[in-house]
Amino acid sequence: MSRHLLTHCHLATMQGHRDDPLGLIPDGALIWDEAGAAIVWAGAQKDLPSELRAGCEIHDAQGAWVTPGLIDCHTHLVFGGDRSAEFRLRLHGASYEEIARSGGGIASTVAATRQASAEALLTRSLARLDQLLSEGVTTVEIKSGYGLRSADEGKCLQVARQLGQLRPVDIRTTFLGAHALPPEYAGRADAYIDEVLVMLVDLHRQGLIDAVDVFCEKIGFNLEQTERVFRAAHRLGLPVKLHAEQLSDMDGAALAARYAALSCDHLEWLSPSGAQRLAQAGTVAVLLPGAFYFLRETRLPPIGLLRELGIPMALASDCNPGSSPCTSLLIMLSMGCTLFRLTPEEALLGVTRHAARALGLADRGVLAAGRRADLVLWRIDHPVELCYHIGHRPDLQVIQAGLWAGGTGRPA
Ligand code: NIG
Ligand code: FE
Repeated sequence: MSRHLLTHCHLATMQGHRDDPLGLIPDGALIWDEAGAAIVWAGAQKDLPSELRAGCEIHDAQGAWVTPGLIDCHTHLVFGGDRSAEFRLRLHGASYEEIARSGGGIASTVAATRQASAEALLTRSLARLDQLLSEGVTTVEIKSGYGLRSADEGKCLQVARQLGQLRPVDIRTTFLGAHALPPEYAGRADAYIDEVLVMLVDLHRQGLIDAVDVFCEKIGFNLEQTERVFRAAHRLGLPVKLHAEQLSDMDGAALAARYAALSCDHLEWLSPSGAQRLAQAGTVAVLLPGAFYFLRETRLPPIGLLRELGIPMALASDCNPGSSPCTSLLIMLSMGCTLFRLTPEEALLGVTRHAARALGLADRGVLAAGRRADLVLWRIDHPVELCYHIGHRPDLQVIQAGLWAGGTGRPA
């Protein structure tokens, strides 16, 4: 049967208003169409039109809460090696920037990634992806940026695409060729950007790129170099994103806003004028508390200002070996609330509705007719529990693109 009806559930539609940001519908029901992979109807069970019920396979959700599938909108999931030795150095007092400047940091992951075969990268990345998926994630963004030359950037993006074929998840790929300067280009950043532009065209032609990102930072690329990449992306019709104001205020957000960036990510050093520009451009602020925590940062992103300006805030894992070796989006909900003082409602919107927007995906992130049938049934008493626990995953069932995709505990 192609149509499914969930009864005896509560819905967090993520389409609320000021007094009810999550758009909660207790005693709800939801119909989705398997073949079309789309939600057909969502609302209070008492309002369900009887003609819609006819012909549906019925699933009693036994009081579960239903949310949209979670979206991790910023990861660097495909990489070789690990950086536990660097972690040790940092605990002995070295800073992330010092390690990067002395040839460690991202460069050491680049060496390990170049060395790894596609098969080895796939195996390691699959294990990381499975951790994310076990928590109800149904869409994951994966950036390149640890290959830094055509064959290896292509290898990583292909592995990312393969992950999406092997598991019930929608993978969105972002080209981050301008992540760091590879050793063979030491002292020649502009020449490396020339190379990035060539890679961009080539990998785009291979259908491997959904969006383009740059690490705009003193240990990354300057504004001019960033703009060259953005211009090239726009010529190809690709949307842009930016690693902006993570370690210093480079005024990257204003540049990103000029290019109608989907998102600016990190933002600990975002200035008030940069925030204004994001608001005007409708750019999403992606907050990455895992990196803030792991690098023991002390400067918070200007959450109050983002809130005041109505800038949509997303939350993501930033899964990567150097600044956020974490594969749990639920822990990000906790950290978003505890470290960044987000409300639980803001945090939950940050891994659903606003995360979808950070990827330019208008078809998901909320429970509404016509949206993708990416759903999670949670065995919890209230959605706030998802932010409250630390390291506890409630029982859950996942429906991805209209199909049951596994879970734990009682199936509906
Ligand atoms: O998002 N800031 C740049 N990129 C990553 C870190 C990469 C790394 O250290 O390997 C980030 O934090
Ligand atoms: Fe990142």
